[in-house]
Amino acid sequence: MYKQIGLITGGGDAPGLNAVIRAAVRTAVREFGMKCVGIEDSFEGLIGEMQTMKLTTKSVGGILPRGGTILGTRNSGSFCCFVDGKTIFPEEAIREAIENLRRLEIEALVVIGGDGTLAIAQEFSKRGIPVIGVPKTIDNDLAATELTFGFMTAIDIATEALDRLHTTAASHDRVMILEVMGRHTGWIALHAGLAGSADIILIPEIPFSFESMVQKIYSREKSGSRFTNIVVAEGAAEVGKSEIYKAAGDKKTAPRLGGVGDYIGHKIEEMTGKEARCVVLGHLQRGGSPNAFDRMLGTNFGACAVRALANGQTNKMVALQAGTVITVPLSDAIANIKNVSSDGQLVRTARDIGISFAAPKEAKL
Ligand code: F6P
Repeated sequence: MYKQIGLITGGGDAPGLNAVIRAAVRTAVREFGMKCVGIEDSFEGLIGEMQTMKLTTKSVGGILPRGGTILGTRNSGSFCCFVDGKTIFPEEAIREAIENLRRLEIEALVVIGGDGTLAIAQEFSKRGIPVIGVPKTIDNDLAATELTFGFMTAIDIATEALDRLHTTAASHDRVMILEVMGRHTGWIALHAGLAGSADIILIPEIPFSFESMVQKIYSREKSGSRFTNIVVAEGAAEVGKSEIYKAAGDKKTAPRLGGVGDYIGHKIEEMTGKEARCVVLGHLQRGGSPNAFDRMLGTNFGACAVRALANGQTNKMVALQAGTVITVPLSDAIANIKNVSSDGQLVRTARDIGISFAAPKEAKL
């Protein structure tokens, strides 16, 4: 049995991170008699001056409903960089971090993060550090798990935004566009669009056409609805075009998406003469208290991750499959992202109830 384990939160924050930390610490201390150390600001806390904190059942008291992460997080830093489209894990930083883990007497790690963070975790595992990953991202795009924690809270927030936009859209006979997160995948847009009764859902997996979008707006007008609600994932793109970026990336930082909602609004005004407004939901989807489901899922993930470590498992990630938390190889989790299937059940349901994805072939809708 390990005497002491380390906990790390990495990547963009997501509601439920503190639920995972609390459950992992409680399980480690109460069930297995292990001590816990929190590593601050993702893996960065393991190099240079080193930033760590002792985690006890007392110190994690009261954090369950709190947003963010008590450990701090980073989604760029010394452990990964991008060269010629390839991700590199600098050996020097990893070596220093591993030496410091030994110095701190941390024998194993629970790493809570998305694909980027878990890819770094795998590098530690390859070099002999026992690692269990916990899948986090509001985008829900991690393969090998049906759900990541944080996603359900993000949907709640996006759904409430759509509800609110609905009443103002209807009052002004406007086209309202809600831009939500979803870099590569449209899970948030799809789920919130269904729950918040969007008329058009635009996702990266289904390139959109303006003709089709305008056709849908006109068909609603004909049937007496003079307003239209659109939800668009930040990574959605027009047929034959690329996504829209707000900031270019560099060696250390990935390019930042943003602007597709405004682009759509201008184009729709141009094509229809109708007024359009765009709201970018942004980091409101990530901040604040997790909902009940994410508190529960985060808690279960945290406890299961520590049990897996205590049982001698390593290089694995806890994952939700068919309602049960199991472990899967880390490599399965990071090999591919999980996309919305364009002919999957939810897309079909959305189409059946009259929601458009503005695909060119939907122009008849
Ligand atoms: O990975 C989650 C995510 O929310 C993406 O959808 C989004 O593009 C990104 O994080 C933004 O992260 P930040 O603004 O913190 O760099």
